[in-house]
Amino acid sequence: MYMKVLVLGPGGREHAIIRALARDPQVTEVHSAPGNAGIAQDVPVHAIDANNPEQAVTLARELAADLVVIGPEAPLVAGVSDALREAGFAVFGPSAAAAQLEGSKAFAKQVMEEANVPTARAFVATTEAEAAQALDEFGAPYVVKDDGLAAGKGVVVTENRDAALEHANACFAAGGSVVIEEFLDGPEVSLFVISDGKNVLPLSPAQDFKRIFDNDKGPNTGGMGAYTPLDWLPEGFVGEVIEKIARPTITRMAERGTPFVGVLFCGLTVTSRGVRVIEFNARFGDPETQAVLARLRTPLGQLLLAASRGEIAEDTHLEWDPRTAVDVVMAAENYPGTPRKGDAIAGLENASNVPGVHVVHAGTAVAGEEIVTAGGRVLAVVALGDTLAQARDAAYEGVHAITWEGAQYRTDIALKAVQGAITVPELRD
Ligand code: AMP
Ligand code: GLY
Repeated sequence: MYMKVLVLGPGGREHAIIRALARDPQVTEVHSAPGNAGIAQDVPVHAIDANNPEQAVTLARELAADLVVIGPEAPLVAGVSDALREAGFAVFGPSAAAAQLEGSKAFAKQVMEEANVPTARAFVATTEAEAAQALDEFGAPYVVKDDGLAAGKGVVVTENRDAALEHANACFAAGGSVVIEEFLDGPEVSLFVISDGKNVLPLSPAQDFKRIFDNDKGPNTGGMGAYTPLDWLPEGFVGEVIEKIARPTITRMAERGTPFVGVLFCGLTVTSRGVRVIEFNARFGDPETQAVLARLRTPLGQLLLAASRGEIAEDTHLEWDPRTAVDVVMAAENYPGTPRKGDAIAGLENASNVPGVHVVHAGTAVAGEEIVTAGGRVLAVVALGDTLAQARDAAYEGVHAITWEGAQYRTDIALKAVQGAITVPELRD
């Protein structure tokens, strides 16, 4: 079976997916829409609005795509996968109904409760009085989440009760509600689980760095770097997540009549009471995907096609590069606020020439002869190394080769893990 794959989405995750697809001997052609400047160097790009179901279907028809892979959450929630499926395409990415696992935190909590999945206790609040009561019930640190899609930026975690209330009020003022949660203490893990609607297959666990500044300071971002695998995880961790979290959730979604086909991204915390779900996403994570797929040796196209057809074999043995992968995101000035755009990027080739390093583009565009910044997260420098320390050093060597006006990046991606300073809390009951 030879296949032509269309990947929808503009960012680093999509570039990483495209690079992995290109390694699949059965994938003869990859197309991207809308893509970015880096993706355009690798495959044909098509300038459509990938969030528009009709435009996506028209392009898939023109290309006669054998598989459509939907990268970001926005097209999922907009019903792009439903429209493509109705038009007869094999689609990797959940229906709009199933993507509510990410689109609505209140819905996700409801499904977790029905499936008996361990997560933080939570209240939904729609008024200031309800919010205040919930904050006082849990105490500090306070966790207040906008109940809608916020690209990972709608969450405020703070010791300051006024700031917590202020975020809740801002969400109410925008016509929304909030979810207020108990604080989960412990290291975070991102686990991507591929699901065909019934069967589940985990990828290699990764860790993301959400805050903009070193030492987890500053506001939340979409993610500033990642590494995989995680040598500090307790033995049996992935199996436990599959049995306690992923499988019950996938089963419950099918029972509800909204089977989930795509990546169930389990955002987890390893707490002293065991593993807890922080959030579900309905797609691959960005920038974890850049690291995770850099290590995947099993052909990705065949895997995603099997998932789209309901044909995942749970005993599939995934093959991984034995090396460790680290990626460091370089972002534009003022990200995660309104980023400065249009700055020429220098040094991309020098970075790619560092052994073990490649550059994945996110917010880039072509302007004349130059590649310029065109988004908040501009690119990710990905490195494979025999050890985590080596991968990390190579990634930063690549980062140091790249410059533009106002570029910012964290200098401590994967540092604690290199130092052996990540501790998993002792289990108590
Ligand atoms: P979310 O969008 O739900 O993933 O939240 C973004 C980030 O906020 C997470 O990656 C955590 O760092 C933090 N966070 C979310 N929920 C909690 C919680 N209940 N306890 C502690 N930190 C949290
Ligand atoms: N890196 C976290 C996310 O993709 O939501």
